[in-house]
Amino acid sequence: MPRPYRSLALAMLLSLNGAAALTVRSTSRIARHHRSLTQLASTASPEAPASEAKSPAPVKNDGAYDKVKMEDIVSLCKRRGIIFPSSEIYNGFAGFFDYGPLGSELKRNVKDAFWRSFVQCREDVVGIDSSIIHNPTTWQSSGHLDGFSDPMVDCKETKLRYRADQLFASPVVLEEDGSTVGYVCVLEANDEDMVKDAKKQAKRLLKEKDLKGSKIQAFQFRDLTEIDEDVMAQVPSPGSGKPTLTMPRDFNLMFQTSVGAMQDASSVAYLRPETAQGIFINYKNVLDTARLKLPFGIAQIGKAFRNEITPRNFIFRSREFEQMEIEYFIPPGDDVWQPYHEKWIADAREFLLKVGLKDELMGYDIHEGDGLAHYARACTDITFRFPFGVQELMGIAARGDFDLTSHTKGSGKTLDYFDEQTRERFTPHVIEPSLGVDRCILALICSAYAEDEVNGEKRSYLAFHPSIAPVKVSVLPLVKNKEPLVLAARQLFEKLQVRWNCSWDQTGAIGRRYRRADEVGVPFCVTVDFETIEDDGAVTIRDRDTTEQVRIPIDDVVDYLGKKLMDIRK
Ligand code: GAP
Repeated sequence: MPRPYRSLALAMLLSLNGAAALTVRSTSRIARHHRSLTQLASTASPEAPASEAKSPAPVKNDGAYDKVKMEDIVSLCKRRGIIFPSSEIYNGFAGFFDYGPLGSELKRNVKDAFWRSFVQCREDVVGIDSSIIHNPTTWQSSGHLDGFSDPMVDCKETKLRYRADQLFASPVVLEEDGSTVGYVCVLEANDEDMVKDAKKQAKRLLKEKDLKGSKIQAFQFRDLTEIDEDVMAQVPSPGSGKPTLTMPRDFNLMFQTSVGAMQDASSVAYLRPETAQGIFINYKNVLDTARLKLPFGIAQIGKAFRNEITPRNFIFRSREFEQMEIEYFIPPGDDVWQPYHEKWIADAREFLLKVGLKDELMGYDIHEGDGLAHYARACTDITFRFPFGVQELMGIAARGDFDLTSHTKGSGKTLDYFDEQTRERFTPHVIEPSLGVDRCILALICSAYAEDEVNGEKRSYLAFHPSIAPVKVSVLPLVKNKEPLVLAARQLFEKLQVRWNCSWDQTGAIGRRYRRADEVGVPFCVTVDFETIEDDGAVTIRDRDTTEQVRIPIDDVVDYLGKKLMDIRK
């Protein structure tokens, strides 16, 4: 789907003489539509087994989210084997990432949760798993060959390439006489960082022009797709600091490859840029085999590839990623699609809440006017407040009959539906919920990142919902050199391991082991201690979020955890 270009124009009023900068947001599309979702309703020392003294509950650090930095998230992911830069031993490869032992579990859980919620727990949705490389005509019909592009500008001096809709220029206008002394140009970021960068550039510019200390008017940012040639000739490139940027031109995002032994024009094929088209080209196969009646959906989870001009913000925008998409086919008609669209927005939001995204970090971005793809009737994004700003997390589009009609034209095969009751034949319309796996994972990690204080000591942990936590239970034998104790712990571990992904940790002080488990979001730790084997035959189960501990007979542990970890259901 050609992506609507983002138009972000901020007005910022500032004084370079040290007065506090007053921020006047004017037309940020995301900000304008970002509306909070409705709020929903959800013993002993943490360092010691339950038999020891009880400690107070952890002290919450409530403002922690605003202090979360992407560097902290990236570093945690690397340090604990969640996500690594790809090909790191060869200095990495921009826009590509590898999931480590814990990350691959997390990813699997997120995909399973989506599949379970939207396919297995619904009778009106079935799944497919199509090839990644389709007959190239697919992309001609879908419009990707001609239209799947982003606007790009090049810096003629540094040879760096930028997405034109992610670079924002503003005139620097003197307050006293309204004259323009030059331009600043900043990369898209959160408002604060954009203004900070623009301020620095403006300060330099004023100094160069012998106007140090002058007051300037509010920045009027325009992205570079909205700028004329004569203005572009004055806009400094972020690379060279001089006006060395080209005018924007379209850059197709599809990765090309060759199929077969010969490499010529006829062997060109493409890595799919979205999973959706694999669904449309299988519409007839599924309809003919799955005995479905409208409305019905076809879901697919899988890799997608986009040669992004500026992959950025870790796994938020990468060149290889995964998508979870559903094409939900509905009867045609101007008054039919809206309730389906609204229901899918509600179901999507409910899913995101269920897997643990914080309500207050989500919002909506309703595409209107220019922001809407030409064939779409409506599109609403569910946004998320990432540490680098509010951005699209998931899109729910009403695409009319554009796709089936295009593939009917392109393939010469009729992709319609016969309604046995009305005896009518028609092309269904479609609602498309589309969520990036990796973007969802980043939102889940940010959302789960928490800090508090336990016994006066700072603790940072991932408060993952149990359904997506990479490891559900960590089994900790209190000591590693007492054979009966280790044996009892091992037996319990093996019993738990057949049900859930568990970890075994026998090294270090118990408090340190709890911290290790907390940091990667293990919901429960089970400690086997001396009393287990010598006295009560019970173990200590510690809850990650409350640090509360309960003593449970060893034979009841599976049942107890089963209830606590219950998988998400419909
Ligand atoms: N079939 C519709 C479609 O592909 P999209 O808005 O281009 O629409 C849908 O992508 C979702 O895929 C986005 O909301 C985002 O979650 C994810 N996504 C898109 N491009 C991405 C990228 N370069 N890296 C990571 N995730 C991406």
